[in-house]
Amino acid sequence: MSQMMTAIAVEGGKGPAEALKPVQIPRPTPEPGQILIAVKAAGVNRPDLIQRLGFYPPPPGAPATLGLEVAGEVVESAGRWKAGDKVCALLGGGGYAEYAICDARHALPVPKGLGFVEAAGLPETVFTVYANVFEHGALKAGETLLLHGATSGIGVTAIQMAKAAGAKVIATSRGAAKAEQAKALGADVSVDVTAEDFEDVCKAEGGVDVVLDMVAGPYFPKNLEVMKTGGRLVHIASQGGGTVELPIMKIMQKRLVITGSTLRPRDADEKARLAGEVERVVWPWIEAGKLKTVIDHTFPLAEAGKAQATLEAGAHLGKVILTV
Ligand SMILES: NC(=O)c1ccc[n+]([C@@H]2O[C@H](COP(=O)([O-])OP(=O)(O)OC[C@H]3O[C@@H](n4cnc5c(N)ncnc54)[C@H](OP(=O)(O)O)[C@@H]3O)[C@@H](O)[C@H]2O)c1
Repeated sequence: MSQMMTAIAVEGGKGPAEALKPVQIPRPTPEPGQILIAVKAAGVNRPDLIQRLGFYPPPPGAPATLGLEVAGEVVESAGRWKAGDKVCALLGGGGYAEYAICDARHALPVPKGLGFVEAAGLPETVFTVYANVFEHGALKAGETLLLHGATSGIGVTAIQMAKAAGAKVIATSRGAAKAEQAKALGADVSVDVTAEDFEDVCKAEGGVDVVLDMVAGPYFPKNLEVMKTGGRLVHIASQGGGTVELPIMKIMQKRLVITGSTLRPRDADEKARLAGEVERVVWPWIEAGKLKTVIDHTFPLAEAGKAQATLEAGAHLGKVILTV
């Protein structure tokens, strides 16, 4: 095995999608408790784009190169894994490469019936949705989830996971075609926000218990309006931007919980705990066909710039994957 490998780096440290270039770098060496994975496929996520632009830095000790999730074969074993095992894994970075290392506890078996491309699209979105919708949001069967950004990688996963858990889903997206895609994925109510106000629709549906929001800004006061007493609002991004007034009285009167979280800065033990929960709760849904990875585009590793540009353009449904 060569000591060098191809990985994708951002020329100049930060820049546009075209700045992503294949480079030769030393193959990473696992430390005790880490596995080395021969990467077959890597997921492309919106946080990678934010990192490429110079924000969302890798946590201490993580590779500087991009890529938060991969699927592939174990080359150097640790923990429960031996050479040749097929895994998908949540990484601190470095997934856009021929080889990646990770804490052995952050890898999961490729679910039965899935290939590497499908499996590579699971860890970042499944961990994020599980932590935010089911742990922080405490969504239960019979409750209603309001989900914004329905056709994003996160959105397509959240629709299916909430349905698998027995919840009702109201999903919002921008445009009629996206609203139709969200409905086809299982959303009970799908709102095209360019044509109708999600606040009116949610009120007509009797309100919502949990909101998963990646938009914030102008969505914030509307979310509070449509939440039932005891509702939980979970922020995972603020793509709508802007500062908002905090309506303290409404929060108090409805006893609302407003929270948010990011996956990447969590410590290794916390990610290992989450991996255990995901394998226990979500892997059976995948193997029962209740959760499918929705992959719109695949690109070879060397075309990581095109892959990110596709995600940036926002014309995708679900995930964009690099093949290695
Ligand atoms: N907190 C965490 O741990 C965590 C982890 C992973 C991802 N994230 C965040 O979650 C979001 C989704 O990630 P992803 O990889 O699934 O991204 P993605 O596939 O690129 O999707 C981005 C989504 O955001 C929507 N959006 C963007 N700006 C909007 C606006 N102003 N109003 C309404 N909708 C808007 C897009 O809607 P259109 O399709 O209509 O453009 C699209 O559905 C990103 O913001 C990402 O940074 C957070």
